[in-house]
Amino acid sequence: MIYNCNLSVIYCRKISFQSELSYNGDGHHLNLYRLEENKIVRTAVYPGTFDPVTNGHLDILHRAVALFDRVIIAVASDSNKDTLFSLAERQELLRDEVKDFKNVEVSSFSGLTVDFARQCGAVVLIRGLRAMTDFEYEFQLALMNKKLAPDIETVFLMTKSEYSFISSSAIKWAASLKGSIKEFVPSNVEKALIQKYNRYD
Ligand code: COA
Repeated sequence: MIYNCNLSVIYCRKISFQSELSYNGDGHHLNLYRLEENKIVRTAVYPGTFDPVTNGHLDILHRAVALFDRVIIAVASDSNKDTLFSLAERQELLRDEVKDFKNVEVSSFSGLTVDFARQCGAVVLIRGLRAMTDFEYEFQLALMNKKLAPDIETVFLMTKSEYSFISSSAIKWAASLKGSIKEFVPSNVEKALIQKYNRYD
């Protein structure tokens, strides 16, 4: 099945998703797939602010692509961060990076991540873990999402050690002070940051 990763809106296909949640007395057993037209499809949503996308995010994405049939990158339109890049810009930068993947789509969402995931028939949320410092926040987010949507699982993927200390904020900070950010972001993002900070050196 071919998916067009240049879609600006995901048309969540009207397919009767068959829930695979069963209960055997000692807990819910979740199958991380849904049946679409009798085919097993594992769809994951990778949510984030992506302001801007970094090599760390792309590293997580590459791992997710190897594990799931379909990965939807969900760019938060109303995350509680003040963003440097507009929602359209953040999506465009991501689309440039994923255009060669047939099973990756870039979309945006507002409201709860789990609601968006459900609309898309996703059964997994992907989150990247860099260091122990991420753990507390991610743990809280995952537990909250589990309460809100017991049928959706959060899967954590470890980032490569060379990206474990980078963050979008640190990259923006370095870029604003004319630091080199080549190693940490794709070249289109580097260019976009240089433009944002009016640096033409
Ligand atoms: N390598 C390097 N850096 C990484 C990384 C990786 N593999 N993965 C994440 N990061 C960095 C990002 O650059 C970012 O840095 P910043 O904080 O300096 O911007 C930070 O880690 C986390 O960013 P990101 O992965 O983009 O996620 P987020 O925390 O901004 O996204 C949402 C949060 C959108 C998922 C969350 O707010 C959300 O779900 N909102 C919707 C409402 C909702 O459902 N809330 C939960 C229930 S109440």
